[in-house]
Amino acid sequence: MDIELTINGERTRVEAGSAEDLATVLRQHGYIGVKCGCDGGACGASKVFVDGEVRMACGMAAADADGSEIQTVAALGTQDDLHPVQQAFVDNFAVQCGFCIPGMIIQAVALLDSNPDPTEREVREALDDNICRCTGYQKPVEAVLDAAERMQGEQSVAADGGRSVDGPPRRAESTGCCGGGCDE
Ligand code: FES
Ligand code: FES
Repeated sequence: MDIELTINGERTRVEAGSAEDLATVLRQHGYIGVKCGCDGGACGASKVFVDGEVRMACGMAAADADGSEIQTVAALGTQDDLHPVQQAFVDNFAVQCGFCIPGMIIQAVALLDSNPDPTEREVREALDDNICRCTGYQKPVEAVLDAAERMQGEQSVAADGGRSVDGPPRRAESTGCCGGGCDE
C-alpha cells in the first residue's frame, strides 16, 4: 500500500507492506539515522518523533503512520549546525560506536522540551529504555545535562573541563561526527 508521510519536512509517498514497521520503511527510503537494534521495542535505537511524540519506529506499523509527520535525528541539525543536544554529545565524548545515539538524542530532545532543567536522576530515568552497550551511560547523561545548560544560555562550552566562557570555546577536535550514528 501507498502511505503519505512528511519526513524531516518533506512530504512523500512511500510503499509499505501491510506488516512492515515504520523503522524498516524509513531505512528503506534512506533515513538511516533510524537504527534497528532489537526489532522488538526493547532498545530505543529506533526512536523518532511521530507527530511530536517519541515513538519506537520498530514497534509501529508503517500503515498506522499514514498522514503523520516524522522527524528523525537527521532533522535536528546539520553537520555544520548541530542541535545543542547533538553538539553536547560530541563535545562530551558521549558517542562510542554511535548505534544507540540517534535514539538517545531523540529522547533527550523530548526530555529537554518538557523539562528544560532536569536533574541527573531525571535524565537517567528519561533514558532508561535507551540501551547502550558501549558508554556505561555516564557520558550521555553528562551530555544531556550539558545540553540543558547550553539551551538555557547559561553555558556556551562543554561541562567536562572546558574553558570558562571568558576563554575560547572548547570543542572536541573535529571528528566529523554528527552524533547521529554511523551510516549502517
Ligand atoms: S530497534 Fe526499535 S526499540 Fe530496538
Ligand atoms: S555508543 Fe555504542 S551502543 Fe551506545
